[in-house]
Amino acid sequence: MKRITWLIFLVLSLLGLSCQAALLSPTPIPDAPLATALPDSLPTASAPAPSPLPTLQPTAVPTEIAINGADSLNDPYYPQMGNGGYDVLHYTLDLSVDVANNEIRGSATLEALTTAALTSFNLDFHGLQVSAVTVNDAPAAFSRQNDELIITPDTPLARDTRFTTRIEYSGRPQPVDDAASPGEPVGWFADAGIYVLSESAGAMSWYPVDNHPLDKATYTFRITAPKQFSVAANGLLISEQITGAMKTTVWETSHPLASYLTTLVIGHYNLVTETGPNGLPILNYFPPDAGGDVTSAFKPTSEMLSYYSQVFGPYPFESYGAIVLPIEYGFALETQTRSIFTTDFVDEVTVAHELAHQWFGNSVSLTTWKDIWLNEGFATYAEALWIEHTEGKAAGDAYMQDIYANASQHHLAAPEDPAVRNLFADSVYLRGGCVLYALRLKVGDELFFKILRDYYSRYQGGNARTEDFIAVAETVSGQDLGAFFDEWLNSDQVPALPGQ
Ligand code: TRP
Ligand code: ZN
Repeated sequence: MKRITWLIFLVLSLLGLSCQAALLSPTPIPDAPLATALPDSLPTASAPAPSPLPTLQPTAVPTEIAINGADSLNDPYYPQMGNGGYDVLHYTLDLSVDVANNEIRGSATLEALTTAALTSFNLDFHGLQVSAVTVNDAPAAFSRQNDELIITPDTPLARDTRFTTRIEYSGRPQPVDDAASPGEPVGWFADAGIYVLSESAGAMSWYPVDNHPLDKATYTFRITAPKQFSVAANGLLISEQITGAMKTTVWETSHPLASYLTTLVIGHYNLVTETGPNGLPILNYFPPDAGGDVTSAFKPTSEMLSYYSQVFGPYPFESYGAIVLPIEYGFALETQTRSIFTTDFVDEVTVAHELAHQWFGNSVSLTTWKDIWLNEGFATYAEALWIEHTEGKAAGDAYMQDIYANASQHHLAAPEDPAVRNLFADSVYLRGGCVLYALRLKVGDELFFKILRDYYSRYQGGNARTEDFIAVAETVSGQDLGAFFDEWLNSDQVPALPGQ
């Protein structure tokens, strides 16, 4: 940990401030879920349908005095993302969507656990009009400041207690600027219907949220829209109910997800279902006029699921599937359990990439955004693994040799801590993928795959950092890999591949 971080940590501890999850905490993140410690009878008050007990995220520097919840988690790349003093367990988003006018109206109900005594707390929320807020069913005061919604309950909240807050809101969502993609905002878009693509900061464009991957939670989406549209979101489709011209569609996730991985898509789609390995429901949403070239790229999904489950460990979630948007913007995003593609960005390697993110990035989440290579480097290397599986070892090797040649010819920068504007740059994807390729060459196949499996099994459902991956690699291999990872992750020069 850097000296300056220690200093900040020291100062904050002296002030008694809680920094929620572990950004400033020197202790490792516990990976055991804390949910079993919760009382059986929950103060759900008038909250909608009680959700299954979610996994809690790690907490918190203890504090005994009532304070205001911090307005940030001090992520170096996104200093405003996330908030301190509580963990959200479950979001219920109950929204009516006027698709023609791009207007929404409804409520977000959050079940959360305090990690500090709170006189007030913050949520991240961009635009839209808030009409009322309650905490534990009592009206609460609120104010807005930039993208912060500040809520002051009439009674302060004690530490380590469960509470429910409901925010009623309406308006026309606007995508938000994001330092990772200047000029290309993220979040809610009204274009060919509605779709949501949030990586990194976009979730706050459509609901109030603790907007950082450290605070993963489960979700219920209860979406009312004109009945002619399909409505797709994360998790499982629970119900559809038509009332007059409107239809209410309920989706629910049973595994926690980072806010940037939530999505909602409303439009004209064909739902194509299949059953994957171990009965896994696969729900694909294709544009009605999608050609065979688009739909056929998803034919191997089931085989990919079983292949990656063998190599990495069991598939983490309750369902999978793709949404192909009827637009040609050249991207894909690994939205949890339901990856999104644009029509012009559908090919087998991209399908494999987004699926691999479900293990690396989605189940094992980032602790800070500067560790983004743990998402994109892993998904890129997973492309090569799929090619190796389908076309043989030489083809997988050739794929990585090409990527390595590209990285060295272009002197790609170090993948760790790439600066926020380079979060999704080639240095992260390509040099990031080479880190795993080089590690495999260094330690050999058997240890390499054990490292991947051990890392996944240890951090699945939680958050990890680069140091955590290195520690697993060193434990499994019995080797000191400090110098190896340092040059692959941090050197300005692209290192030579081991043995070549
Ligand atoms: N994570 C995506 C991928 O590699 C890329 C991505 C980053 C993205 N930010 C985005 C896609 C925002 C759409 C919108 O698969
Ligand atoms: Zn990716």
